Amino acid sequence: MSYYKHHVFFCLNERSNGEASCAQHGAQAGFDHCKKQVKAQKLAGVGGVRVNKAGCLDRCAGGPVIVVYPEETWYTFVDNEDIDEIVESHLKNGKPVERLKLAPEVGR
Ligand code: FES
Repeated sequence: MSYYKHHVFFCLNERSNGEASCAQHGAQAGFDHCKKQVKAQKLAGVGGVRVNKAGCLDRCAGGPVIVVYPEETWYTFVDNEDIDEIVESHLKNGKPVERLKLAPEVGR
């Protein structure tokens, strides 16, 4: 059994050179909301869910992006409702949210 049931990484990278980055697309707000919801639903901790900051995950064109392990499910999101759905469906009930999955061809 893995230490965390689901380990979530949010890209919070910010670029100052004008290139696209997740920080320009609400990544920090999504991260903060996800942390809050995971804690509120008592999902956080060993055997549960861990939400971490990450640097660039090299899939910037789909930003903001997150990845959930061990399933290696990649998502993009627009607002807090999308985050709520990922928390409820995937992190709580183990069912990935198909509509928010990042298309496989999305890269940098
Ligand atoms: S800036 Fe977020 S994946 Fe590259």
